[in-house]
Amino acid sequence: MLKPMLMDHPLIQHKISLLRDKNTGPKEFRELVGEISTLMCYEATRDLPLKEVEIETPIAVAKTKIISGTKLAFVPIFRAGLGMVDGMLNLVPTARVGHIGLYRDPETHQPIQYYKKLPVDIDKREVIVLDPMLATGGSAVDAISLLKEAGVKTIKFMCIVASPEGMKALSEAHPDVQIYCGVLDEKLNDDKYIVPGLGDAGDRIFGTK
Ligand code: PRP
Ligand code: URA
Repeated sequence: MLKPMLMDHPLIQHKISLLRDKNTGPKEFRELVGEISTLMCYEATRDLPLKEVEIETPIAVAKTKIISGTKLAFVPIFRAGLGMVDGMLNLVPTARVGHIGLYRDPETHQPIQYYKKLPVDIDKREVIVLDPMLATGGSAVDAISLLKEAGVKTIKFMCIVASPEGMKALSEAHPDVQIYCGVLDEKLNDDKYIVPGLGDAGDRIFGTK
């Protein structure tokens, strides 16, 4: 089982505090989700392999490094994961983007799939799954299972706020998946919302409540 990576960078922690504030409106909320995603992308791509190349500078030939081979895809889970895509593409503009639509049934809290569109060569790409919230873990577990069924071999999962329950469920279901998490909260409430959390991420990003 891979140890989850908690993002302790002060900028990430500061921006998560602003996200939590119930007075933060959709415009600022969206901007913060984008900025946090860019900062987390920097960490989640730290292990990309490099190769040495020669580049002619105006002065001389430099032996220097570029990213070697790895092709990336980002897969947001609808809806809230969409808010993270642009922040990721800021750093890796050539990545492909797939989409998985899941919503939690309000009674059972189980994820229900309603959409899937993945790049044709997804099985040849390293995939980072994006969702700001890891609550029961059901959505993340199902999204990653779908990607494995599509032949993806290397998968990372990136969330902004996680519950201990979600972290455990995801690590047990997919022990090969590296989790990157902004902050680990206290617990879930009876409605399976993260406490203290930040509320419903999709509604806050899109202003639907
Ligand atoms: C939220 C969130 C995750 C999911 C997490 O989506 O964006 O996808 O809940 O909960 P889980 O870990 O218990 O599965 P939601 O189902 O509310 O859909 P939405 O993004 O369309 O609002
Ligand atoms: N989904 C959210 O958007 N927030 C939670 O706290 C749990 C699930």
